[in-house]
This record gives sequence, C-alpha cells and structure tokens, in this order.
Amino acid sequence: MPPAESDENSAHCELGYGQGLSINIHAAATQGKYFDTDFNPSHAAHANELCTASKCGAKFFDDSFEEMLHRDDLPQFDSISLHGIWSWISEENQAHIVEFARKFLKPGGVFYNSYNCYPGWSPGAPLRELFILHDKYAHKSSKTFNRVEEALKFTEELLNKNPAYFQRVPDVKNVFNTARKLSHDYLAHEYFNRDWICMYFSEVAEILQAAKLDFACTTEIVETLDNYNFSQDNLAFINGIENSIMREQIKDYFRNRQFRKDIYIRGARRLPEFERVERILSTNYVLMTKDKFPQSVAVPAGNVTLTENVAEKIYNYLAAEDYAPKNFKAFLEKNPDISKATMFQAIVLLMRNGNIMPCQSEVTIQHVKPYCVNLNKYICKRAYDSDDLQFLANPVTGGGFPLTKMERVFLAAEYEGITGVDELANYAWKIFSARGLSLVKAGKSLNGAEENLAEFKNMAQSFTENRLPILKALQII
Ligand SMILES: C[S@@+](CC[C@H](N)C(=O)[O-])C[C@H]1O[C@@H](n2cnc3c(N)ncnc32)[C@H](O)[C@@H]1O
Repeated sequence: MPPAESDENSAHCELGYGQGLSINIHAAATQGKYFDTDFNPSHAAHANELCTASKCGAKFFDDSFEEMLHRDDLPQFDSISLHGIWSWISEENQAHIVEFARKFLKPGGVFYNSYNCYPGWSPGAPLRELFILHDKYAHKSSKTFNRVEEALKFTEELLNKNPAYFQRVPDVKNVFNTARKLSHDYLAHEYFNRDWICMYFSEVAEILQAAKLDFACTTEIVETLDNYNFSQDNLAFINGIENSIMREQIKDYFRNRQFRKDIYIRGARRLPEFERVERILSTNYVLMTKDKFPQSVAVPAGNVTLTENVAEKIYNYLAAEDYAPKNFKAFLEKNPDISKATMFQAIVLLMRNGNIMPCQSEVTIQHVKPYCVNLNKYICKRAYDSDDLQFLANPVTGGGFPLTKMERVFLAAEYEGITGVDELANYAWKIFSARGLSLVKAGKSLNGAEENLAEFKNMAQSFTENRLPILKALQII
C-alpha cells in the first residue's frame, strides 16, 4: 500500500486534467510536486491561471500523452491519475499511458483509472453505435447541439418501429430514455466522441500488467465491506472463485456495473489486518457538515441502519472542541463497549454518506493552508460573475469542498474580514446590484434593495450558523 499521506518529497501526475480545478485543488491541498498535462492549450492556460492564484508551484503542460512520455525532465511519480480518459481515447493513446506508467511510476506507486465497462454498458453500446452512425452518414447541421438532437430524434423514430433487436434487448429503451434527459454537452462527450473503447475490468487489468500494475481496490469506500454490496448467497458464490481478477470481474456481473474507478499499485503489498485497522483508527477524522448523522445509509445491497447509540456518540465526539479533527483510538478507549469491527463499519458508512472524512497530519495541514487560502480567495471572487468553480481546496482533508455560489460570495467577504449577518448581506447586495442582478425566490425576481437585502440576510444567517463553523474547522478560513 502507498504511504497514507503525500509528503514534500512525493511527486504526482494527472493525465488529461480538463479545466484543471480538481488537480489544482489537490496540488494546493497536499504536499508534493505536481507535473500534469492536457493537450488542449486553453485547459492548460486555465489550470495555470488557478495555479498562479494558489502559488503552489505545480506544473501544467499542454503536451499530448505521447509528448509527455518522451519528456526528460520528469521525476519518478508516487501517483499517476486519469479520470474520464481511458474509454475516450484511441488504443494508441492507451498504449502511451501504459508505457508512461511503466517508465515513470515508482515501485509501490498508485495508478488511478476510471472507465466505462461491460457488462453494464451492453445495452448502451449499440445505442452509441446508432448515434455515431447517424452523425457520420446522416447529419444535416454543422452545430454539435443540432447534430446530437438529430441523432436522438432518428433513434427515437427507430425505437418506435420496435425492431427485433430492441424487442430482444428491452433495456435499450430505458438507456435511451435516460440519455434523452441528459444535456447535449454531456451526450456529445459520452456518446459522440470519435474514440470510444468500452472494456471489461479483466481486459483493463490485463493491459495494465505491462506496466507491472496490480489491481488494489476501487475508490468506493463501501466496497471494502463485501456484505454491504452482495447478498450472502451471492457472496458465497463470489468467494468460491480463486482467481482475484475473475472474482472482481464476476462482481461486475452481480452489480451490472457500467463505470469503474480503480486503484492499481505497482507491486501491491496487502497490509496485515491488524495494521490496517490500526492505521484506520489512528487516522484523524473531521465532520463535513453540522447535520446530525442519518439513521440509515444506502449501500448497494440495501439500507444499513447505524447503531443509534454509536452514531450519536461519534457525532458528539467529533463535534466537541469546535469540530477539531480527532482519531477513533482515543474514542474507543473512552467507549470500551464499542468493538473495533463496529467502529470500522461506522467509519465506512459515515464516509460513504459524506458525513465524515479522513484528515491529513497537522504538519501537512499547516504547510498547505496558505496555498489553499490563496486558491479559495480566487475561487470565491470568481463567484461574483460566474458559477463555474464550485469546489474549494480543503487543507484538512487534502481534497475539495463544495460551496454554493452565494456561500462563496459570503466567504469572499469573510476573507476580507467582513463578518456578521448584516455585513455579509450588504456585501452580497453590493455585488449583485452593481451587476444589475436580483435574487430570485420561489420563481419570482425580488425588487429593490429592501426585498433583496431581507433575503440576503436569511442566507447570511444560515451561512453563519451552519457553514462557517465547518469552514473554520476545515481551516478553509
Ligand atoms: C473528458 S475530459 C476529462 C477531463 C477531466 N479529467 C475530468 O474528469 O473532468 C478528457 C481530457 O483529456 C484531454 N486529452 C484527450 N486526449 C489527450 C491526449 N492524447 N493527450 C493529452 N490530453 C488529452 C482532453 O483535452 C480533455 O481535457
């Protein structure tokens, strides 16, 4: 397993970072050096703009994957990540990525890859083929939006004729109805991209062997507990399969999975159970909202009820001392009636539900905090005119933290030292009125300063009571 936390000597790489918000958040909120690429120069320019704001020193190139492979100024990486890339590039580019991992990932390094997979995509694949066929041979418009719409209409007409294929595979209609509701932008990327290669988990695992990569786990924390994912009967069948690749593949049949987020390790070493539990218990955790814990959490195998007494004790423990991060070793010493197994299940369920998150060490938090604040100030200011950057850098967890546009505007004021409900409301109204904007409540645009300020005060009240304490606990401010 990789070290639990990235230190200043570690190096990380993201291939195909898109607009670059998430990689900038990670580069600001964790220790280590970042070297990333996306061949779209406007993506690289945007990623560099965010990096100039955070001053964290990450490098964002506009190299293609092939060019990145031949660079001679890269270190050996502790992690290489790609999200939303693998299924939408050519085989040739997949080969460049595998070679990149073989050449640049350290032994023990982590490789993250997400991709569309079979068998879940089985009804979707012929549908995509229809869209692509129409777009290649029968489209009339040159505009992407219209081309997507034309292909959708054509497919709808075909479905209405009820051809034998759709009678034999009735789920195609459901997939089409779901796709119909998605935005044309999303559809253009998911269904109309020139390259599209959908694979089984086992195929990807075999390809990645060329880079000496072993499958470790998925990023879904709940999948660490098999009984939350499969019935006992199914689990007995799965556990009867000796080969680990085959076992993981069969899980996809039980789940009918169509998208995977996998973690591979170059030379995986399984931790002994005792060490694994010790690491989990001695990690600090923090509350992500002030909301009390739910009574039950949805998992793939159904709903799991949290032991009420345990959930309340954990909540009170983490809420104490102004929500400061704490580990569960100390908690278990104070609550000897709670077993380690119960504690582990509670941690998994609460993380799955977004109630708690693991934290970085205090040394790391203090090191990364200034970069996070620099980036967050920029993101909050940008909320005056746009709603495009919806996450902030969280120094305590090392990841992102979502805030609404109004919350970001209030936080911009707090960064300037402006605080208190009336002051926050006045600040927000000044920004809105200067742009000729008004708030909309229940579908109705509010009129003038009085109506707007009253509503801004409600929002500022809620922000101050519910969000600000958590933002302070997360050291975002
Ligand atoms: C679907 S986007 C995913 C972006 C981001 N990872 C995300 O999940 O939001 C794919 C990105 O990969 C980049 N890309 C595609 N092929 C590439 C190549 N051969 N070399 C470098 N970047 C590439 C594109 O410019 C695009 O930004």
